[in-house]
Formats: sequence, C-alpha cells, structure tokens
Amino acid sequence: MSSAHITFDTTGDKIARRVRKMRPSAVRNLFAAATRDDVISLSGGMPAVSLLPEEDVRRAVLAAVESPQARAVSLQYGPTDGLAGLRAVLADMMRDLGIRVKADQILVTSGAQQALTLIAEAFIDPGDIIITEGPTYLGALQAFSAFEPDIRAIPFDEDGMRMDLLEAELERIGKGNPRLKFCYTIPNFQNPGGVTMNAERRRRLLELADEYGFMVVEDDPYGRLRYDGGHQVPLKAMDDSVIYLGTISKMLGPGLRTGWIAAPESVLARVNLVKQGADLCGSAFDQLVVQHYFADIPWQRTLQKFIALYKERRDTMLAALDEFFPPEASWTHPAGGMFLWITLPDYMDTDSMLAEALEAGVTYVPGNSFFPDGVTGKNSMRVNFSFETPESITEAIRRLAGVIEERLELYRVFINAGALPGYGKEAVMAENERENWDEVIVASEQNEEAVMQSHDGDAAQIEIAEDKVAEAEEEAAE
Ligand SMILES: Cc1ncc(COP(=O)(O)O)c(C=O)c1O
Repeated sequence: MSSAHITFDTTGDKIARRVRKMRPSAVRNLFAAATRDDVISLSGGMPAVSLLPEEDVRRAVLAAVESPQARAVSLQYGPTDGLAGLRAVLADMMRDLGIRVKADQILVTSGAQQALTLIAEAFIDPGDIIITEGPTYLGALQAFSAFEPDIRAIPFDEDGMRMDLLEAELERIGKGNPRLKFCYTIPNFQNPGGVTMNAERRRRLLELADEYGFMVVEDDPYGRLRYDGGHQVPLKAMDDSVIYLGTISKMLGPGLRTGWIAAPESVLARVNLVKQGADLCGSAFDQLVVQHYFADIPWQRTLQKFIALYKERRDTMLAALDEFFPPEASWTHPAGGMFLWITLPDYMDTDSMLAEALEAGVTYVPGNSFFPDGVTGKNSMRVNFSFETPESITEAIRRLAGVIEERLELYRVFINAGALPGYGKEAVMAENERENWDEVIVASEQNEEAVMQSHDGDAAQIEIAEDKVAEAEEEAAE
C-alpha cells in the first residue's frame, strides 16, 4: 500500500533576502519544452556541436589522459588562475583579435558565466550602479542581481548601445559617483539583440568611462562568428584597462566549461580571491582538453564550418521573416552571432503569447526576460538561428507568424475602432469628432481584458469584446 507524503517547506523564512528576489532564467525553464519532438526550439543559444570532427575531439580528450604526466595534471587540483599552458594558448589566440596580453593577465573560469559572477562578487555592493545594454544577456542579469545592484539598461540600435542615452544617464548619475561601478557590454553580435557596436561608439564609451570613472566589462563570446563585413577592434585592444571576457563555448563546446578573464593584475588579484571561495580551481581536465584543442588541432578549419553553417541559417531565418511575418513586426539584421531580436507593436505581450506558440510547436524567449525590471520588452522576443536546420527554421518562423497573426487580428478590431489607447486614436477622432476620449480609454482598458480572455480562441468572447467596443464608442460619442 502506498502512503502519501506531505512536505512542508520549513526553509522558506530562512532564505537570504537577495535569493528571494532572484528570478529563474526563462531559457532554463524552456529547456524541457524545447526538447519535445514536436517543438522547434528558437529559444536556446546552443552551438551545433555535432559539427565538431570526431577525430579532433578524440585527440584533444586523449591528450588529457593518455600519459601519466597528463593525468597528473588533468585529474589533480590546479592553480586558481588556471593552467599556465592554457593561459599561454589563450593569450596567443587573442593576439589575432588585436589584443596584447601576457598569460599572467588571464584568469581561467568555468565558462564566461562564472567570470560574470566572480566580477559581480568582487565589485558590487547592494545599491551600486551597473550599466548594461537593455535588453542584455539574461545570465548576466542573474549573476549581477545576486549582489543587488541598481542596473540601468541603455537601449541599443543597429549600431549598438546608444551613446546619447548613456550620456544622459551618466549625467543623472553624476561624475565620480562612488556607486557607479562598471558598464557591462556585449559589443559583438549582442545577446539578445544581434547588433554590433560601431567603432565610433566604442571610442566614445571608453572616453565616457574615463570621464565618469567606471570600469568597462567587455563580454565577447560571439566575436569570431562573423558572417558579413570586417571585424571591429575589441574595446580591450583600444584600452588595456578593459575587463575582457572570453569563452570557448561557441567555438568548441559549452560542455567543457571554460572561459577566461583578461584584465589588469589588480582586478585579477581580487577575482582570484573570490574564485578560491567559489571552487578553489576550475576543472583541470576540461582545461587540458581545451589547451590541446586550440594548440594542436586545426580549430580554425572547424570554426569556418560553424561560420558557413550559421550564416546559411541566419539567411534562412531572415528570408522566412520577410516571407511570413506581418508588416507590424520589425527585427534586427545581425552580421554574426546566434540571435536576432524581434519587435512587435507595443500592445503585444510575448510572455503570455508563449503558451500559444508552444501549442503551435515553436519556442522563443520573451523579451522581458532580458531587462532588469522583468517588464520592459514585453512586446519583443529573442530567436536563435544557430541550432535548428534551415527547414526547421523556416517552419518555426511560419508557425510563429501564425501565432502572432492570430493575436494581431484580435487587436486590429480594436485598433480600427480606435479603442486601444494610442493606436488609431487620432484617425477615429478626426472621423467622428469625438470629445470625451477618457471614457473610451477606460472602456478600452476593459476591452483589453476582454481581448485577453478571448485569446483561448473562443469566438463568442471575441463577439462580446467587439460589442463592448461598440458600446464604449457610442457612449463616448454621446
Ligand atoms: C553574452 C554571453 N555571455 C556569457 C555567456 C556564458 O557563456 P559560457 O558558456 O562560457 O558560460 C553566454 C552564453 O550564451 C552569452 O551569450
């Protein structure tokens, strides 16, 4: 006979204040749904690791275990800074990006994600001001928010973070404000925006950092995944004081948790202290595999294969968007990376629309996940083009367009009636010479509720909602 167990959460009131405020990652939450056979996932940021030549992987892994000397390193504790051999290889690799650092100006981390946490722990006190792009990488928001900063998100356009808006924010913050710690930026093929900061804005950002006294953290996981145009000079190559974050996740595989920080020694010394408490040292096994892969294997050849594959997939997605998406939508045109950012009219809510998308067999990440307040960006979404095949990408965009179109159709009824505040209002006002718009706006808020209720596809609900619009219009006209 089975017995039922009721478990009471006795730890709830013991949880740290900062953890209570933490939000789970929408991407992590979507992981389970995304692996369902009937669902095409545009939500993750997974590289196509199946493309890695088996022989190359085998050689790199074997090199880490085949000799007693190798095993004495790979199965042992290592230095907190990372294996000296790997740090030398990474310094070498950065030289072709124009970055000149010595091996001892590098600290190896467990992925760039750990670098973000270590930097946050080393530099953020509660209430400190951090600047990011808005939207920005949600893993960075998670890492930072554990230390309770005041995050100021600066919008971007196709040329990266808007420097005019950054300057306006800095004026509000004030010069030499001790609370202002750093600006976190993903200048190449930003996650989630896909946009790249142009050279002039890079220069301006560094000038502003000097003028206002903040550090610059440059996160660059996608820099080598460029499909069009020439490379931009990294911020780190322009200014040695920049804290640069690298990772092998998108060039080799995120399963080997290996990233790094290249920074002035004074920064690394503090990060090293924090890392000792976090994990003593990273996985020596992972590091040795990575060291051999980048030192002894023609990895550039494989990188070129990744680039060709992702470029084709990006082109497929852009073509599908052009073909299937409604004219109310717009999207970025990334020259590299893995993501693009779709913006819908601002009355749309991609968070609540996700359930319908899942039902239609497609996932994306709702835009509000990438903003510190969890609210801004509700009318946008991030889609990934690196993982699915071109056929699946086209089908996914077709399905997504259908879901969006269905919602838009409902809204169009109200917009045409002038019943959504700010949409079509002037046109309808001119037509009917209405005077009392307040009533229409109040009524239209009720109508919005009716619209939301009618999203389950119930035609009767749509009719009721439409009647409400007509009633509100009549009342306002009287
Ligand atoms: C901008 C950005 N930073 C950091 C990371 C984390 O990378 P890693 O796998 O090295 O932890 C990602 C992963 O997608 C990312 O997009």
